[in-house]
Amino acid sequence: MNRSILICDDEKNIRNGLALAMELEGFETLEAEDGKVAWDLVNKKSVDLVITDLRMPNMSGEELLKRINSAYPRMPVIILTGHGTIETAVDAMRSGAIDFFTKPVDLDRLTLVVKKALSNNDLFAEHERLKEEVAQLKARNRYDRIIGKSQKMVELMDTVSQVAPTKASVLITGESGVGKELVADAIHELSNRNKGPLIKVHCAALSSSLLESELFGHEKGSFTGAVKEKRGRFELADGGTIFLDEIGEIDAATQVKLLRVLQEKEFERVGGEKPISVDVRIVCATNRDLLKEIEKGNFREDLYYRLNVVHLEVSPLRERKDDIPLLMTSFLTQFSKENNRMIEGFSPQAKRALLSYDWPGNIRELRNCIESAVVLARGSVIEYDDLPPSVTKTENVQNLSLDVGITLAEAEKQLIISTLAQCGGNKTKAAEVLGIGRKTLHRKVQEYHIDQA
Ligand SMILES: Nc1ncnc2c1ncn2[C@@H]1O[C@H](COP(=O)(O)OP(=O)(O)OP(=O)(O)O)[C@@H](O)[C@H]1O
Ligand SMILES: [Mg+2]
Repeated sequence: MNRSILICDDEKNIRNGLALAMELEGFETLEAEDGKVAWDLVNKKSVDLVITDLRMPNMSGEELLKRINSAYPRMPVIILTGHGTIETAVDAMRSGAIDFFTKPVDLDRLTLVVKKALSNNDLFAEHERLKEEVAQLKARNRYDRIIGKSQKMVELMDTVSQVAPTKASVLITGESGVGKELVADAIHELSNRNKGPLIKVHCAALSSSLLESELFGHEKGSFTGAVKEKRGRFELADGGTIFLDEIGEIDAATQVKLLRVLQEKEFERVGGEKPISVDVRIVCATNRDLLKEIEKGNFREDLYYRLNVVHLEVSPLRERKDDIPLLMTSFLTQFSKENNRMIEGFSPQAKRALLSYDWPGNIRELRNCIESAVVLARGSVIEYDDLPPSVTKTENVQNLSLDVGITLAEAEKQLIISTLAQCGGNKTKAAEVLGIGRKTLHRKVQEYHIDQA
């Protein structure tokens, strides 16, 4: 039986044009001038695939997509969009459309996408399996290598478990050391591709010509040094996930090739002619502001939208300080074990210093800090003095502002309080900073009734 395609657009010309193109490919077509008519047809006729515009009278494409998705989850829906509504189209992808096209529609690509969607007879079975897996994962809770209970991390991990089982491309952004790569690992592990490979490419580490052959492979003799044919990382990632780290660094030519892989799921090796098609989920990361790079003309906007179907922002550690205690403890356990040291915890001063530090290097810096403290610790707890100077020295370098008009004694008291706070309550250190003996400091603390928490 011929497959039938429903085309929904309020512009008659577009509808007719697309219908004709689909009929030439051997499909049957149905037409609807708005979402309401389309929804009726979906319910009454046998429809295998829907191509729909977004903005229409009576019922929008978004609403149509929503209804189809919940009533007929196996039915592929392709979105059409005019210029300037690309973000709405991206939203539609997030809510389950399989692809989107900007007008004027590239008919060759549309045909390709339609054929691929319809040839996938296992779609329904796959959907069921995915749902099952998601339920299992939810029950097992989430990925346990990522530690964090702050609101921001909980929300992030919720989104991760929600998008992991889909094939949507994910862009992960955030400062250095926040855990972007770990999030990429989680996406792969929580997806149904976790039995397949996870291939990581550090785009900044390779020159642009090397990067292209690294990603897409090359044929023998395609350039000096290409003595053998070589499979690229995309081929190696077939059936799995490719993680493109530092995506902001790739050059214009590679961007074009990447865009093609995203649109057509196809590429050629360097120096090759045979198109190679792969089934790969793309996850990217960057600590650059790609929108700025687009403005500067360094990054393609169309590629950006393809990569950024789902955007995950990993917050810096200083914005989720309630994760610090958990992380400290977990790194302490890990490194005590690795170094055969029996360290039971942190002194109150050490803990206070770790909590008040800003962590510009984020979790990586915290991890290194605990590792070195474990190695340096002399006792059975980590003391303030075991922490690296970067953490203790810069700890809240504060300015003390004093009102003119107070007594010298009052000024002295305030300076002592601030210095003690800056030294995490360590009197020896505070005395050193103040240039007085430890005993003198002790006496002054009592004299001024300074409350030492
Ligand atoms: N939430 C977390 N729980 C436990 N470990 C974490 C967490 N986040 C990051 N780490 C650890 O911190 C280190 C840095 O993380 P990762 O390499 O993922 O950061 P990144 O954002 O990719 O950094 P960069 O931008 O420098 O590439 C790793 O050792 C990672 O295991
Ligand atoms: Mg990284």
